[in-house]
Amino acid sequence: MAELSHRAFRELLEDFGGCDCYFSEMISAGALLAGGPFEKWYIDAGPKPEKVVFQLVGADIEQISGASAVLDTLECAGIDINMGCSAPLIRKTGAGAAWMASIDRAGELISRVRPAVKRRLSVKLRIGFQDDFEYLVRFCRRLEAEGTDIITLHPRLVTEKFKRLARWEYVGRLKQELKIPVAGNGDIADAAQIVQRAAGPCDAVMVGRAAVRHPWIFAEARGIEAADSGSTKTRPIPNIEETGVRFLELLAQYQPPEFHFSRAIRFFGFFCDNLKWGNYLKTQINREKTLSGIEQVWRKYFRDGSE
Ligand SMILES: Cc1cc2nc3c(=O)[nH]c(=O)nc-3n(C[C@H](O)[C@H](O)[C@H](O)COP(=O)(O)O)c2cc1C
Repeated sequence: MAELSHRAFRELLEDFGGCDCYFSEMISAGALLAGGPFEKWYIDAGPKPEKVVFQLVGADIEQISGASAVLDTLECAGIDINMGCSAPLIRKTGAGAAWMASIDRAGELISRVRPAVKRRLSVKLRIGFQDDFEYLVRFCRRLEAEGTDIITLHPRLVTEKFKRLARWEYVGRLKQELKIPVAGNGDIADAAQIVQRAAGPCDAVMVGRAAVRHPWIFAEARGIEAADSGSTKTRPIPNIEETGVRFLELLAQYQPPEFHFSRAIRFFGFFCDNLKWGNYLKTQINREKTLSGIEQVWRKYFRDGSE
C-alpha cells in the first residue's frame, strides 16, 4: 500500500511475528528504470526479502517488463502487477485499474513480463468497470494463459473505491473458474475474519488497512488458529503507546527524511483508530512537521490520561 507497506512497517509487523507474505508499496516502473532518487527505498525488501512481493505500477508494456526484469534480479518472493488501483491520477495515465478495460492489452502485458520474471508473477485487480462476472473470468483466464501464477481479487468495481462492501463471493466463484490460486482482499477488520476467510473458498487472504490499525493482527490470527486446534497459549496484549513510538523509531531508521512526514501521517491516520480520542489526536499529529514533534504529541496523549 502506497506510503504504508515500506520496510519500517514490515519491521513493526515482524516485531509481532509477521505474516506469510508482504506486498511492497506500488513502485513506478518508469521511475525505477529512470533511477529516481528514492527508488532504493522502494526496493528495500528488508527485513525478510524472501517474503516480499514487489508491486509494479505503470502504463507502458516496455517499461513494466523492463522494470520486472530489474526487480527479478533482487531477492524477493515475486513480482506483482497492479491492475487494481482505482485512483483517478493513476488510472488517467493508463495504469492500475485502467488495464482492466482491455483483455488484449492486459494479456499482451503479461506475455511480455512473463519471460522477464523467474519468480512468482501475480496480478492484483478489481472486478472491473462493470459488475460483469463473465468479463472478469475472461480477463483472468487470459492472464492465466499468459503465465500469471496467482491473482489477488479485491472484489469491488473500479469505480467504487471503498464504497459498498467487498463482494467476497466473487473470490470463491473466480477460484472455481481458474486453475491458478486466487487470493481475496477487502474489508478484513480483525483476526477472526482472517481465519474465517482463510477457511473459505480462497487460496490466500490479503489484509490492507486492518494490518495498519492492528499490526499484531496476524499474531492474533495465529493465536485463534492455535486455540481452535487445542493450544492454550495466550495471545499477547499489544501496548498501543509503545507500538506507536516503535513505529516512529523504525521510520527514522529505515526511511529517508523526505518520507518521514507523509509516512507517519498515513500510519497514524489508521493507527489512531485504536484510541478513544483518535480523531483529535490525528489532527494534532497532522500539525507536526517532525518525527520528534509527533512523538511528543503522541506521548502527551497517554500522559494526560486520555485513555
Ligand atoms: C492508503 C492506501 C494505499 C493503497 N495502496 C495500494 C497499492 O499501492 N497497491 C495496491 O494494490 N493496493 C493499494 N491499496 C488497496 C489495498 O491494497 C486494498 O486492496 C484495499 O485497501 C482493500 O483491502 P482492505 O479492506 O484490507 O484495506 C491501498 C489502499 C490504501 C488505503
